[in-house]
Amino acid sequence: MSTTLHQEFAFQRSISPTATEQYSVDEVHHASPEDGELLDVVYDWDRVPVPSSLKEFGARRANVQNPLDVSGVWRFRELLPFAPDEQIVTIGEGQTMLRPSDVAAKHVGVDVGNLFLQYEGLNPSGSFKDNGMTAASTHARMVGAKIAACASTGNTSASLAIFASATGLFRAVVFVGSGKIAYGKLSQALDYGALTLQILGDFDDALSRVREVCRERNIYLCNSVNPFRLEGQKAIMYRVLEGLNWEVPDWIVVPGGNLGNSSAFGKAFMELKELGLIDRIPRLAVINAAGANTLYRLVEEDGLKWNGGDVERSLVQKFYGDMDSENRRASTLASAIEINRPVNLTKCLRAIEVCDGVVREVPDQAILEGKAVVGRGGFGCEPASGASVAGAKLLREQGVIAPSDRVVCILTGHQLKDPNITVGWHMSDTDKINAILGQETIQATPNANGPVVVENDLEKIIAALES
Ligand code: F0G
Repeated sequence: MSTTLHQEFAFQRSISPTATEQYSVDEVHHASPEDGELLDVVYDWDRVPVPSSLKEFGARRANVQNPLDVSGVWRFRELLPFAPDEQIVTIGEGQTMLRPSDVAAKHVGVDVGNLFLQYEGLNPSGSFKDNGMTAASTHARMVGAKIAACASTGNTSASLAIFASATGLFRAVVFVGSGKIAYGKLSQALDYGALTLQILGDFDDALSRVREVCRERNIYLCNSVNPFRLEGQKAIMYRVLEGLNWEVPDWIVVPGGNLGNSSAFGKAFMELKELGLIDRIPRLAVINAAGANTLYRLVEEDGLKWNGGDVERSLVQKFYGDMDSENRRASTLASAIEINRPVNLTKCLRAIEVCDGVVREVPDQAILEGKAVVGRGGFGCEPASGASVAGAKLLREQGVIAPSDRVVCILTGHQLKDPNITVGWHMSDTDKINAILGQETIQATPNANGPVVVENDLEKIIAALES
């Protein structure tokens, strides 16, 4: 591909279809000054040399000498063609796997062989965020950024920090809130050398502050308000299709927090359909934790819709106004998705429409059960990821998902991100979990696998082995 062509066929534009202004991909913007909505990266597909079949992207995997072909994001570079090849920043992200899980299929209630887990925890920093951060880092390099920042519930900060330390292209500054942050994630930001600012507030406070600071000091912002982040996250869906030998599943089930992933997935399928690379679009299920359920309430209870871009914003304003006046704050053990005001709400509404999507909320108990099932039958995941399995189970119980449907649950983060929750859960039969987790709502479960305490005595140890 020509090294300059991208500037002619890739633009940034407000997500709202009525907005008229467009910006070059070499500029840094997030929200449109015209209507305040986040920007989308749009392409003039007639001018992009996109392969005529998805299989051609898969064939590149064999080319281990080219880091862009090895990357699970840039192997699909014609589908996110905003950067010249020589500017692309990669650290080997996207070497992830789609695997069937019979244990999870039985838990969810679909036919064995029909439930697949997409293990995004296998990324370099252990979460799906690396898919987006490789794209944001590439854009940061295109615009010559020297400092990059983000606010985070933990994974975005780990991802930004690893891209900064592994490439040396920019310095990372991360803002975390003072609520729950899993130590696995915090330890990564510290170890990779990011300047870590702990704001006395929650994630939503940290995000609005980092947006202000980036504007004020001309620092490159890497949260999912950055439209290039979402371009990278589209690749998760390309790899899901690749894992299914380019067949489209019936359902994609994903946890919803700030709604970057769900927004990116909807855009991926919208574009693949437009390009004629797929003939149908899977349904999307976005799963909130019941303690952080803004999307669920707005969509399923208040009826908020994309509506061709004419979103009823007064509904959202009222919801947030009530949230503040009632002093309601998100609270869930799945700390990654403990978010009040999801910034990608409008983009997610579009994804829900494109994918005939649904939103569900699941309690922490079901999230941790889903997580334990994933661990029992595979590589494991962090708590927030368990929401996708819990959500699939709920949708199956409600008859929305049929037993014969092919379902893909996205496992967004690695099992080792949050060992306190995992150990606490498995010790639930000894009642320690609620002490560790600081709440009393989690019950013992058949999937709990706590350590057996045995006296330092050979006979008693053998008896414990055989019991
Ligand atoms: N799962 C995990 C493990 C996450 O870290 C996040 C978001 C989500 C799900 C939700 O994804 O925001 O695209 O809807 N974590 C962000 C962070 C907020 O700062 O690491 P989303």
